[in-house]
Amino acid sequence: MTVAVFPGSFDPITLGHVDIVVRARSVFDRVIVAVAHNSSKTPLLDLDTRVRIAADATAHLEGVEVMATQGLLVEFCEEQRASVIVKGLRGGSDYDIERPMALMNRSITGVETLFITGDNGLSHIASSLVRDVARHGGSIKQYVPHGVEPVVLDALAHH
Ligand code: PNS
Repeated sequence: MTVAVFPGSFDPITLGHVDIVVRARSVFDRVIVAVAHNSSKTPLLDLDTRVRIAADATAHLEGVEVMATQGLLVEFCEEQRASVIVKGLRGGSDYDIERPMALMNRSITGVETLFITGDNGLSHIASSLVRDVARHGGSIKQYVPHGVEPVVLDALAHH
């Protein structure tokens, strides 16, 4: 059984992320969505909330689980017996960011990173843009799974 880890901040999970999960699941037997801490970001949503909305958004997908992870991603992959990290690429600038991470992760434990091209119609969606649109009063319904918008609005109201 091939297990893949799809890591990210998921702050919040978007339809672009769900698209990558579905595509990854078509290749791997089990996909673990790993909601991670990115030390260069202060998230809008706390870890439990990010895990909960990602779990809700992928509950209909068999063979997909959502877990929180702290610490080194490669150690999490070893604990979960995952031999592959999956990342989605929207364009070249994503690759520029992802390439050094893929090389670093491989040099630590040998874990490979596979890149999946997402749906072109979703390539403008980024969690950072979604937060920004919501922060300025725009609707984010078309970019996020059902039920995520109220969670983001609530977090913004209490921020
Ligand atoms: O959605 P993001 O914020 O672009 O995801 C980045 C993330 C969380 C995957 C990355 O920061 C990460 O892997 N963090 C875990 C700590 C770690 O292993 N750091 C070394 C990465 S080479």
